[in-house]
Amino acid sequence: MEAPLIDPFNRPISYLRVSVTDRCDFRCVYCMAENMTFLPKRELLTLEELDRMCSAFIRLGVRKLRVTGGEPLVRKGIMTFFHAMSRHLASGALDELTLTTNGSQLKRFAGELASAGVRRVNVSLDTLDAEKFARVTRWGRLNQVLEGIDAAQEAGLKIKINTVALKGFNEDELFTLTEWCASRGMDLTFIEVMPMGEMEEQERIGQYWALTDLRARLEERYRLTDLAESTGGPARYVRVEETGQKIGFITPLTHNFCESCNRVRMTCTGELYMCLGQEDRADLRKPLRDHPDDDSALEAAIRRAIMRKPKGHDFDYSRQRVRGQVSRHMSHTGG
Ligand code: GTP
Ligand code: 5AD
Ligand code: SF4
Repeated sequence: MEAPLIDPFNRPISYLRVSVTDRCDFRCVYCMAENMTFLPKRELLTLEELDRMCSAFIRLGVRKLRVTGGEPLVRKGIMTFFHAMSRHLASGALDELTLTTNGSQLKRFAGELASAGVRRVNVSLDTLDAEKFARVTRWGRLNQVLEGIDAAQEAGLKIKINTVALKGFNEDELFTLTEWCASRGMDLTFIEVMPMGEMEEQERIGQYWALTDLRARLEERYRLTDLAESTGGPARYVRVEETGQKIGFITPLTHNFCESCNRVRMTCTGELYMCLGQEDRADLRKPLRDHPDDDSALEAAIRRAIMRKPKGHDFDYSRQRVRGQVSRHMSHTGG
């Protein structure tokens, strides 16, 4: 076994998020502009190249692989990639193969995902109101996603719902969403909206809903017990005593979790972002393509990149100002 990846702040890197496409069939208002220019297909890593990249990371100690996008399930042939990655589960080199999806294609792919060894899926869903859903995604159909969730549960996949907390948008659905997840045996994670993309400053501040406030509202109705357990992601969890469900809080703004960061993210063109909230990135496609039969240059490039991992993001919304904004859209690295 090669020496594991350790960054300059002594954090072991064991979690790779890999974006397999920049495209998406929705255009969530906090995530993408309405008119996006997507990459020409020839810029994308092929499925074989994605396999080589991920396998190199796994050799270097990555134990958890999350497939993201854009929307990962709109990438043509993506099931081939999932099936290929399942060999790393079978060999014991990988603990978890999973994805974050908007759910629109789950009805079609849930069974195959399960047969490729996926056990758990994170589905992004910010509202249970069809009209509001169409507004936040710009044209998505809620029913399609709900059918996807049904199919995933029937296929035996465990579901976690990701809800971005948006002031004036889903505040009134806090309990509806919580109870709906509890009734279906699904975990729920709330996320503070991060300043990424081109949104105007006051609009961004206007939609920001701090999870300290959201949690206080939950506590008016439920008893929440803090849990020590982790999925290896950034959420901190509580158990709701009345329903037995787990609720996660992802709080980049009110409770920075960078100190325990264990992850890096690769784009669909082979750029490695060492931090979600910083612009620095390393080109891994060149060492991959320059050496088609030998991964040593690629592995060396990964090790050099990890040594550039910064301490954390600089996101901040205090005093009605947005600081630490990054101009790329969230969809570029899949969160
Ligand atoms: P689990 O394996 O279920 O813990 O998933 P996860 O939370 O790691 O992944 P998911 O794709 O569900 O991400 C949920 C949210 O967390 C997204 O909005 C991500 O952008 C955000 N997130 C994930 N990793 C980081 C991180 O390193 N920094 C910040 N600021 N946000 C992150
Ligand atoms: N801030 C926080 N979360 C975001 N997501 C997309 N854009 C943002 C943002 N600006 C979430 C999606 C999805 C996950 C990958 O990232 O809703 O759940
Ligand atoms: Fe697509 Fe997800 Fe971004 Fe919405 S949040 S536009 S579903 S990638």
